[in-house]
Amino acid sequence: MLARWVLKLGWDWDKILDYDDTLIPPADQRASVGMPDRAHFKAVGKLAVSRFVRECNLKPSETILDVGCGVGRIAIPLTSYLKTGRYEGFDIIPNSIDWCCQHISPQYPHFQFKLLDIYNPTYHPKGQLAAHEIPFPYPNDHFDFVFLTSIFTHLLPPDVEHYLAEIKRVLKPKGRCYNSFFLFNDQQQYSRSGLDFKYDFGHYRLLNLERPTDAISYREQYIYNLFQQHGLSISTVHYRKQDAIIAFK
Ligand SMILES: C[S@@+](CC[C@H](N)C(=O)[O-])C[C@H]1O[C@@H](n2cnc3c(N)ncnc32)[C@H](O)[C@@H]1O
Repeated sequence: MLARWVLKLGWDWDKILDYDDTLIPPADQRASVGMPDRAHFKAVGKLAVSRFVRECNLKPSETILDVGCGVGRIAIPLTSYLKTGRYEGFDIIPNSIDWCCQHISPQYPHFQFKLLDIYNPTYHPKGQLAAHEIPFPYPNDHFDFVFLTSIFTHLLPPDVEHYLAEIKRVLKPKGRCYNSFFLFNDQQQYSRSGLDFKYDFGHYRLLNLERPTDAISYREQYIYNLFQQHGLSISTVHYRKQDAIIAFK
């Protein structure tokens, strides 16, 4: 309760969301989500949680889904905030989920992690399942808040569509979601990421043709239309290095 008020008053986020450094995964695990530097790994996770609280009104009692949770970069600072709520995360990298199950869940049993054997050329080339065919392993109308940080930036259009449908399905009525993308439009041709998305497919652009999932940028209007088609109402868009779309069911 106190933590929530302090956050609302704009006190020191960094301190409130701080955690024991023994929870930080080793360098090879951090590298698997593109963030080998320890301090950076910690700071980015805390910043994400502070944004969820400030921009999405995340409460310590809510039920949360982290799609593509990686090695818990965001789950770990959430352990300092989510007191009576529950957290579920899934990912496709076996080592990442093993690490989370061994190091986070034993201390925080209300944090649970699942592995899905989904194919992604960048992250899990040996995966056996197609992302657009697999339902999220959770019931309908279950979560207050679903978030995807740096996930849609690695998914091709059929997978993006399927994941939006699944987000809608698992969210409770009026539940919210936070989704990061690399967006472009006629004015902002290359998104704000600074990445050189030089392979143009009209409504999306790729960084690397051989491994398309390395990074994908989407035309803003195409993504807005998909949210609408899948029954998710956009409440806010924050334009950033990774743009954030906040929506509700
Ligand atoms: C850049 S990392 C971000 C990880 C985490 N969200 C974070 O912010 O630390 C991208 C993650 O997306 C995961 N991923 C790739 N394809 C996925 C899919 N179809 N479903 C769920 N996760 C996926 C990868 O395994 C990897 O952990």
